[in-house]
Amino acid sequence: MKNKKLGITEVVLRDGQQSLIATRLKTDDMIPVLSMLDKVGYSSLEVWGGATYDCCLRFLNENPWDRLKIFKKYFKNTKLQMLLRGRNLVGYKKFDDEIISLFIKNASIEGIDIFRVFDALNDVNNIKTSIDAVNKAKKNSQGTFCYTTSPVHNDKYWLSLAKTIEDMGATSLAIKDMAGLLRPLKAFELIKNLKKNLKIPVYLHTHATTGLSDATNLKAYEAGVDNIDTSISSFSNLYGHTATESFISMIYEDNKNPYDMNLLTKISDYFEKIRPKYQKYEGSMRGVDINMLVNQVPGGMLSILEKQLLDLKKQNKLKALIDEIPKIREDIGYVPLVTPSSQIVGAQALMNILDNSRYKTLTKEFMDLVMGYYGKIPGKICPNLLKKVEKTYVESKSEDPKSISMYKQEFRQFFNDNSMIDLSSNELDLLNYILFPKEAKDYYVAQDNKPSDDVIGLQEGFGLYIE
Ligand code: CO
Repeated sequence: MKNKKLGITEVVLRDGQQSLIATRLKTDDMIPVLSMLDKVGYSSLEVWGGATYDCCLRFLNENPWDRLKIFKKYFKNTKLQMLLRGRNLVGYKKFDDEIISLFIKNASIEGIDIFRVFDALNDVNNIKTSIDAVNKAKKNSQGTFCYTTSPVHNDKYWLSLAKTIEDMGATSLAIKDMAGLLRPLKAFELIKNLKKNLKIPVYLHTHATTGLSDATNLKAYEAGVDNIDTSISSFSNLYGHTATESFISMIYEDNKNPYDMNLLTKISDYFEKIRPKYQKYEGSMRGVDINMLVNQVPGGMLSILEKQLLDLKKQNKLKALIDEIPKIREDIGYVPLVTPSSQIVGAQALMNILDNSRYKTLTKEFMDLVMGYYGKIPGKICPNLLKKVEKTYVESKSEDPKSISMYKQEFRQFFNDNSMIDLSSNELDLLNYILFPKEAKDYYVAQDNKPSDDVIGLQEGFGLYIE
């Protein structure tokens, strides 16, 4: 039907494992399959993002930059892609332009080719600095909008947003449908419209949560989308993505398939074997959850909420919690639910449910969101809520972003106080500290004060790098 080869991004190493086993996949369990993944012919491998970065330091006692270096070593033919939370980079708070540039410069050097940059609120002011920094590093800057449905999110809204992203200098556009809300026929219409009006390639990222992703990806293909995201079959569907092999089988006849199905089967077998090791991180969902079309809870978020309720021994409140989320969303101008807005709305929903009263306790982050600290809200905020927040909100609570030199100072102090080697000349270690101060400190202390060969090599390497 089509002559052009559709680009396929394999997401198993980032979003696939993030959605299915809470981002716990260890680098050691990835290494044996990397060379095979590199030979498939994917347009890119999504390998890095906020959650993987965070979990490396927080739970896995791994340095996320070391993981990236390993990827770079193994991926000779395939581009590496990461997901970047705009101004929040891979963290949860705003960083200033200098830190954004430092992060992107280093991520480019260490191997990232495609930066998918999004802002949870779709406020373009929050992605501009990152897009500029990626372009400066001569990498692919993928401007992204987070797809959601609401009375304010109509065709006109999406097209105007996409045009703004293109005019900003993004080299491609991604539609990020983190909750699997994009319906097949809507995807066809939306992508047709975008393809007609944009010059840059259009990528689609959708989730299988609602059971629509296979059809949505297929209709997107029919509408001329340039690239879609899939995950290897043994790490697909549920909260995750359309299966790579299934999708390839949908669009190619056996004798015209440019992808090696035997190789894909070997990769899938590998992941099938290691998955049981991570069983305790699996969510409870079976089949599909059509309620998500109403609740708009992203796949990754749902498994986290389940776990939080379990820890509080309030599993019976899950339904109430899920029902609370769209109500809060309406009150705060229909923000899309994705990090960090998903966590903020999720935490406030949890408060409302535990208090058994809406907005009796307001979290600081929720007040920040209402007051525009995270960016421009797409719709209108409920006047009563706004009044209540304005009354309690103290703006000075939201500290200004710190500068690099302030972080350097803190970092140096920490290591000297702990009689450890001074790592403050190493930009990668400094970035770990800037992005996750507590987790990074714990990580470095756990490294037992031993500078690895890698660290020394890096410091030398940085002396050679001229900006
Ligand atoms: Co996703």
